[in-house]
Amino acid sequence: MASIFPFLGTAALATVLLKLELEKNGNKRECKVPASKHDVRALREKHFSKSVSVSYSNSEPLMFVKGDGSRLIDESGISYLDTRNNVSHCGHSNPRVATAVQQQVMQFNSNTRYLHPNVAHLAQRLSSLLPDSLEIVFFCNSGSEANDLALRLARAYSNSPNTIVVDGAYHGHTLAVLECSPYKYEYSKEFDLKAPKDSVDFKSPGKHIWKVPAPDTYRGPHRDVKDAGIKYAAKVAEACDFYQYTCGESVGAFIIEGGIGVGGAILPPPNYLPRSVKAVRNAGGVYIADEVQTGFGRYGSSFWAFQHTWTEDEDPVVPDIVTVGKPFGNGMPLAAVVTTRKIASAFEKMGVDYFNTFGGNPVCAAAGLAVLDVIESDNLQQRAHEVGGYMMTRFVELQTRLDIIGDVRGSGLFIGIELVRDRKTLEAASTETSFISTTLKKKYHILTSIDGLLENVLIVKPPMVFSKADADYFVECFEKVVLEDLAKIGDLSFLGRTPT
Ligand SMILES: Cc1ncc(COP(=O)(O)O)c(C=O)c1O
Repeated sequence: MASIFPFLGTAALATVLLKLELEKNGNKRECKVPASKHDVRALREKHFSKSVSVSYSNSEPLMFVKGDGSRLIDESGISYLDTRNNVSHCGHSNPRVATAVQQQVMQFNSNTRYLHPNVAHLAQRLSSLLPDSLEIVFFCNSGSEANDLALRLARAYSNSPNTIVVDGAYHGHTLAVLECSPYKYEYSKEFDLKAPKDSVDFKSPGKHIWKVPAPDTYRGPHRDVKDAGIKYAAKVAEACDFYQYTCGESVGAFIIEGGIGVGGAILPPPNYLPRSVKAVRNAGGVYIADEVQTGFGRYGSSFWAFQHTWTEDEDPVVPDIVTVGKPFGNGMPLAAVVTTRKIASAFEKMGVDYFNTFGGNPVCAAAGLAVLDVIESDNLQQRAHEVGGYMMTRFVELQTRLDIIGDVRGSGLFIGIELVRDRKTLEAASTETSFISTTLKKKYHILTSIDGLLENVLIVKPPMVFSKADADYFVECFEKVVLEDLAKIGDLSFLGRTPT
């Protein structure tokens, strides 16, 4: 067809046509509110990258429109039991948190450069829940931001970017924290991975990242809890030696969760943290405790996961930096870094002006204050201890009858159930775990989370309002799925992986 703009080239013509089209539509294409779940899914597929995953996309993804305590309700009114959401710490749609947010929104919200009572009070309350030395608080919006900032603080203090990370760990999605997350960087081509030293059997995003094994006493090389902590800590000391003696550099940081969540609920055995941290500090580095998943009483026996082994340890070790996120705002974007005055002043001396437009704004701070109130008034830590202990006992009892349960571990409402095909070889029952998770969702309306490097660990980390009746329902349905549904499936190879 002859062009009506014969003097224009193809690219220029396309630009003119696009301009005319946009002018005609007032720079807008028609947008409609999606009327059904099907429409929502179609819009998501059109506008979202495939790298943004959807839970249960191998079966039927879910759309929720309401939350209530330990339950989520979908668009057709079906109520699902949530065994996995550690963000809604005080329960989905907690009315006290919702009211606090609502009231503050109606009053005032802004960027974070003004004084506001909520924000100062929240800093005071958060620090009061931590050991005395942890008194300086930086607010941010997410766990990733908190860990990113924690690394900056550590680097400012230690003058070193060298970071020791743990196999299977995830600390967030910014570039700096992705480098500390083997759970991610080992499974994408985003980083050019190289071994920091010829003799090691791992690769990392650079010489400044050294990966140590997860202190796993079920599947790892050291399984005797009596000395596993010491043996795994020796690997941290080896990393410190490398930086100090081979490179002539200091260590910057050792970043670790008090229970490695996505790595499969791996809790450091006694002596691991004190010994590792001693080696790190001797090499000039700091200990960053990532409490994004595990904090705020979830462990039941302790408020923070880093305190978990304090009762057995001869040397309770206090982190230099603690990061918190997920449950802190019960769904509102609220996270924080808490550190010592000494570390904060090293950061200040670099001339850094830390500004975060939304981090710790008065509305999110109102949510945080309400969360701390609810944890206290509703004894959520004690509840995690009781309900989590009860659920663990039930799963341990089930383990005596179901061979597929290889290990039950954890603390409070942070429990890992590792599924295996063979208790001797520990062959991972990954496909079975996927099948169980999907069937629990489809048949019994239970939401679960699959983690672990072999994707064979069900991680239970529900809202802390989870009840004993919820635990009973979950355990009983789990047993039925294994005995009735899984037993009937002969060939598992056709089953897809369940992204949870
Ligand atoms: C242990 C841990 N740290 C940090 C993060 C990152 O938090 P966010 O997703 O809020 O950025 C996560 C998220 O899953 C996490 O599990």
